[in-house]
Amino acid sequence: MTTPNPTVSFLHKALLKLEGGLNKIFGNELNPFYYLGALGFLFFWILAASGAYLYIFYRTGIEVSYLSVEDLTIEQWYLGGIMRSFHRYAADALVVVMALHMLREFILGRYRGARWFAWVTGVLLIWLIYASGINGYWMSWDKLAQYSTVATMEWFDWLPIFGTPMSQSFVTQEVLNDRFFSLLSFSHATIPLFVLFALWVHILRISYPVVNPKRGLVWGVLLAMLILALVKPALSQGPADMGIEPRNIGIDWFYLFIYPLLDIWSPGQVWALVAGISLLLGVLPWLPTRFKQIPVAEVNLKYCSGCRFCVADCPYEAVVMKPRSDGMHFLEEAVVVPERCVSCGICIGSCPSSTPFRSETGYVSGIEMPSLPISGLRVAMTENLAKLEGDARVMVFGCDNAADVGKLRGKGVAVMSLPCTAMLPPSFIEYALNEHRVDGVFITGCRENDCYHRMGGLWTEQRLAAKREPRLRDRAERERIKLFWASSDDIGELVLELESFRSSLRSQRPE
Ligand code: HEM
Ligand code: SF4
Ligand code: SF4
Repeated sequence: MTTPNPTVSFLHKALLKLEGGLNKIFGNELNPFYYLGALGFLFFWILAASGAYLYIFYRTGIEVSYLSVEDLTIEQWYLGGIMRSFHRYAADALVVVMALHMLREFILGRYRGARWFAWVTGVLLIWLIYASGINGYWMSWDKLAQYSTVATMEWFDWLPIFGTPMSQSFVTQEVLNDRFFSLLSFSHATIPLFVLFALWVHILRISYPVVNPKRGLVWGVLLAMLILALVKPALSQGPADMGIEPRNIGIDWFYLFIYPLLDIWSPGQVWALVAGISLLLGVLPWLPTRFKQIPVAEVNLKYCSGCRFCVADCPYEAVVMKPRSDGMHFLEEAVVVPERCVSCGICIGSCPSSTPFRSETGYVSGIEMPSLPISGLRVAMTENLAKLEGDARVMVFGCDNAADVGKLRGKGVAVMSLPCTAMLPPSFIEYALNEHRVDGVFITGCRENDCYHRMGGLWTEQRLAAKREPRLRDRAERERIKLFWASSDDIGELVLELESFRSSLRSQRPE
């Protein structure tokens, strides 16, 4: 990752500090910031379930819509009322986690290059979720609904698309009819289906997307919502009356913040603001930054056996298998889809051909990063190791997106930073330990459960524990290998951990 601009860099530091604090409270496994997208899915499902219940009792009509919601809230407070509160608060929470999720992806820079797809579909989701949420507020047909409906119609009337102004054809007392409520009810059931479809598209280019938060978080959320529903149940604000302009109504600032603006600005100005923000968000991935994507991965058919390890490991669905095209006896070959590849290098760590135990000079692997070929990696490591002096000589492998391992370099410590820790084929660890007689290998990368490339930390752990291909072989002594996850905010801990590892290596030496 290239150094971002100072504001983003400041925000990045602040985010790491905040998340570090949350890790202390919740642990890395339950840190809600690591599950913002998954929490979005959770709130969507809560909305769908509570909404389905409300629909059973909802009636469409000028008088009855309000009354049916009131009945549910008051007569059936123990279930209908709680469902209504769950529905309202899940909608608010969805907007909060969506905003935080968007901000977090922005600060981490995970919206550029091939990652534009999730970003742009995310912008579409914002529109759909707001359309659905605002539409939901109209369903109860209270004073807030009246205020929001009239303001929206007047706002839309500014657009030159409707012959007769909507504010006249729908929402004056004379013409307000049951058709309007049927339309409301239909759209409130249909727009969420579009949201669901957009969510599916949103994560289409992500392998192993985390769409379910950990069970502890789910229970925590449900409990908090239940308490909120009992302490502060969602209520209506008196029946709408088109003859009286609603006054002193409470606004839901999560969804309806635009309306007070409509009171002071013209509809055209508010359209310009909304369209401008959407456009800016939409083109953000293509605005010039210091970010430079390094060339994408390339397959070398001669060394590809079609084992599919790279397909299983790529976090971005950027490698696919195709029928063999070179006449070799394997059934399939790997093919990189360049527009999906973010150049993380994880597939290089997966490929069994990425081994330093080869005699040819300038050899290649089945899949390579053109800017950092596997033979170059071996040369760089060998040169680094040759400079090591003293006892407890350690080879450190780090990640460009985590703590800067350059700060660890010293007489007895050689360092190499990779685009992702999981770019390191496990055979390199064995090679350093057994062929170069280095005393230990220390591997670090982004904080646990927070890999910049999503799966790199987990794949590394599993390969080293011999639970995932390519496995680290038994000949590599495990007590001479250390894994420690650290972000750029954890450099102090990283230094201490490395020192403690080196001390343990010293104590392992035969007298
Ligand atoms: C309620 C709405 C949303 C939900 C439920 C949602 C959900 C998710 C999920 C589950 C992931 C995968 C996370 C992972 O496995 O690491 C994800 C990734 C992502 N989302 Fe969203 N998202 C929403 C809205 C947005 C919005 C509004 C934006 C930005 C405009 C956005 C941008 C992204 C990006 C950039 C990624 C990740 C890309 C990557 O790692 O390559 N999302 N989202
Ligand atoms: S470098 Fe490899 S693992 Fe990473 S996105 Fe590209 S193809 Fe996938
Ligand atoms: S991991 Fe290597 S050998 Fe296996 S399919 Fe991918 S490129 Fe081919």
